[in-house]
Amino acid sequence: MSPGSEVAKSPYTDFERPPGFVYRAAKSAQRDSDNVLHCEDLPLPKLAERYGTPLYVYSTSAIRARLGAFEKAFRNFRHAICYSVKANSNLSILRLLAREGCGFDVVSGGELERVLAAERRAAKKTVFSGVGKTREEITAALKAGILIFNVESESELGALEECAARLRKMARVALRVNPDVAADTHPYIATGLHKHKFGVPIDRACTLYAKAAAAKYLKVAGVSVHIGSQITDPAPFGEAMARVADLVKALRSDGHTIDYVDTGGGLGISYQEAENDFETYVENYARAVTQPLRDLNVQLLLEPGRAIVGPAGVLLTSVLYRKQNDSKRFLIVDAAMNDLIRPALYGAYHKIVPVVQLGSRKTDGNSVKREMVDVVGPVCESGDFFARDRELTEVKEGDLLAILDAGAYGMALASNYNTRPRPAELLVSRKSVKVIRRRESVQQLLGNERV
Ligand code: LLP
Repeated sequence: MSPGSEVAKSPYTDFERPPGFVYRAAKSAQRDSDNVLHCEDLPLPKLAERYGTPLYVYSTSAIRARLGAFEKAFRNFRHAICYSVKANSNLSILRLLAREGCGFDVVSGGELERVLAAERRAAKKTVFSGVGKTREEITAALKAGILIFNVESESELGALEECAARLRKMARVALRVNPDVAADTHPYIATGLHKHKFGVPIDRACTLYAKAAAAKYLKVAGVSVHIGSQITDPAPFGEAMARVADLVKALRSDGHTIDYVDTGGGLGISYQEAENDFETYVENYARAVTQPLRDLNVQLLLEPGRAIVGPAGVLLTSVLYRKQNDSKRFLIVDAAMNDLIRPALYGAYHKIVPVVQLGSRKTDGNSVKREMVDVVGPVCESGDFFARDRELTEVKEGDLLAILDAGAYGMALASNYNTRPRPAELLVSRKSVKVIRRRESVQQLLGNERV
């Protein structure tokens, strides 16, 4: 099911991602002619001209609106939104979310340091997940005073106990249970089955909770679960929560105090078409998650990542060359798989749109031409593509394209492969723009190396 498919069609085209990215008539252009993609009040060509490409551009109001939809959908349930830092960990994005009241889900000492740098006080609303926490990372999190550790194995429980005892600090613990629920998503990002490395089998959980409860510096406080990412059907979330609800009841009858249920993240976005009604979509998700838990009086910890920032960002790129090899037509752009790896890694679809659209009522009367192309980057791998056999509006060398829905797992997964400096990142709020990360230089890349 695509998000919000049962509600009325959006007034926006599939080429837009309101409220962040919408086409508007260019000031200089004639009426009904050129349409220019804007981020809030700023035309993207202006930003490209000033800051260069490839360039990540994020919209503050889109992030706020998406977070607002979560807050609204869960308003009748005690909850905290612990934004999943891995989706987009830029300090300014974290600070924006912290100021909106978010806590955070971190999976490394590095992510914890980002949260502390963005907003020190957010530590007490931070959860620490991940299958391979080192003792150094655990110690840092204990010192920072985080809310809860989502423990993923018996051995990790032992390590946490050891670190907490050394510091004489109580560690609040939830076990991440693996509910054995299948979700329809890419196999690399499904996590809720027994064959996956994540969590402890739900039927082993009671024994481990007993072990945790016996440890002097551990305090059993919750249950956590995360079944995977980019899941657009609410049903598997409900299924997982039904199993968690049974576990909470069993644990309480064993005498444990269970205050928190961490539902994980995973709510997907609509990469293909514009969302119809994000609020309704999140309401449906909230209903599925909360329904099994409604009588348990627990506080929910929600860990959305992609759903908050995904459609709030685009990757802006310039067409370097057009090229035709026999029947195959290529647009070679200046962004590459190192900047956005999702198509290469997961075969992910990202909508690609021309930043300037020539309107069909153009003065010369020509209608817009479409063509079948592969959009590829300069990296030396055939996997370096953004789209294959995609029908796009015809563009020229030097034109700008926007790769949509790149706000989540875009820059966060970027690398320096082919010694390509990573792009700059901008955060737009109405008419103002802030460089929230400068473009890397080759000198910086070489800086840690020795000849
Ligand atoms: N909580 C935990 C424990 C997680 O492992 C994840 C994502 C999240 C929350 C946030 O999930 P979200 O709401 O963003 O779906 N690189 C992949 C996605 C990897 C997701 C990993 N875990 C992609 O680009 O699709």
